[in-house]
Amino acid sequence: MHLLLTNIKELLQVRKEPISKVSGTDMKTLPTIKNAWLLIKDDVIKDFGNMAEMPTFEGFRHLDCKGKIVLPSWCDSHTHLVYAGNREQEFVDRINGLTYQEIAEKGGGIVNSAKKLQQTSAEDLFNQSEIRLKEVIKQGTGAIEIKSGYGLTTEAEIKILKVARQLGKKYNITVKTTFLGAHAIPQEFKNDKDGYLDVVCNEMLPKISEENLADYIDIFCEEGYFSVDDTNRVLEAGKKYGLRPKVHVNQFNIIGGVQTGVAHNALSVDHLEVLNEDDISALKGSETMPVALPSCSYFLSIPYTPGRRLIDAGLPLALATDFNPGTTPSGNMNFVVATACIKMRLTPEEAINAATINGAYAMGLSETHGSITVGKKANLIITKKIPSYGYLPYSFGSNCIDEVILNGKIV
Ligand code: NIG
Ligand code: FE
Repeated sequence: MHLLLTNIKELLQVRKEPISKVSGTDMKTLPTIKNAWLLIKDDVIKDFGNMAEMPTFEGFRHLDCKGKIVLPSWCDSHTHLVYAGNREQEFVDRINGLTYQEIAEKGGGIVNSAKKLQQTSAEDLFNQSEIRLKEVIKQGTGAIEIKSGYGLTTEAEIKILKVARQLGKKYNITVKTTFLGAHAIPQEFKNDKDGYLDVVCNEMLPKISEENLADYIDIFCEEGYFSVDDTNRVLEAGKKYGLRPKVHVNQFNIIGGVQTGVAHNALSVDHLEVLNEDDISALKGSETMPVALPSCSYFLSIPYTPGRRLIDAGLPLALATDFNPGTTPSGNMNFVVATACIKMRLTPEEAINAATINGAYAMGLSETHGSITVGKKANLIITKKIPSYGYLPYSFGSNCIDEVILNGKIV
């Protein structure tokens, strides 16, 4: 199947020479072609250029994009999209004055979601999660990472990862999965964290690896959850099974998780709401992508990741949603991009780079996703008629998307 887009007002994130990520001042540049055409063959970008130089194409399905902007789909490199039930009561508790940490200490939080998930069948979990996946696809997400971590038993962790894989198959969307068994200490191991980590490393990991259910490994490195020593242990164990880390660090406290992630050559370190100069130094010269999750900061009213500081230090930055029932019940990348501009002072160019090519990098997908490059997946967002791409973050909360193309097909 061929699909030809013509009269595109502006085609964004055009990278003729493939790149894996953009860093520092380069993030200020978003290469575009005005008045463009783009040809799709099957599920890939076949060619593109300026309308003035468009060859004659015949027999293709044709889409006139007059007044509309076209960009690569969002790459959401951090979600917990497969979960059971919701936690709106905790949301109300927070409005009434409890902190996220106080709620967790009362048995709410991650273990609350785990209890629900353990009692939910795989079929029901799939049905609940596919509603969210369908929604984010319509919102322009074209590749997504999904973590386990709301199971906290071997059986339940496997259930999540299997559902995540099945979702990818059914909706023909690239899903990368991450094993996050070390997300919280379950009630049964309240006084035996090491015992739980034995289960994570010696029982869950081998089974998950045997069934090839995970692409990456993660741990919540935070006070009250898992220490730097625990993180070393889990990431070391993951390495034996060929799993590269993507870690939750510096959400509430700085305990050295960034350095640990970098030392293990993590693909990404995510959250970073609190960050010091040592953390920034550790990231310099590494292959580790810092990932900011501004909707989490918004929902919890906690600091925003100092994205400006990271970029001004010459580092790359990716943006993701963190879609989960506790801290970010939203998977809308458009809101993430807008919030990064509004609250983190990223320019629209920086935010779009962070949500496309750098998001792809943070999932190990920069060879196939995240830019308009010949041979890459034809995953595209076609906007409504809008005045400029700066209008996307500017008009926060409005839906600027007209059509979404996934694998060359209009969704
Ligand atoms: O990324 N921080 C750890 N994990 C999730 C949220 C956990 C929850 O409250 O359910 C996050 O924010
Ligand atoms: Fe998360």
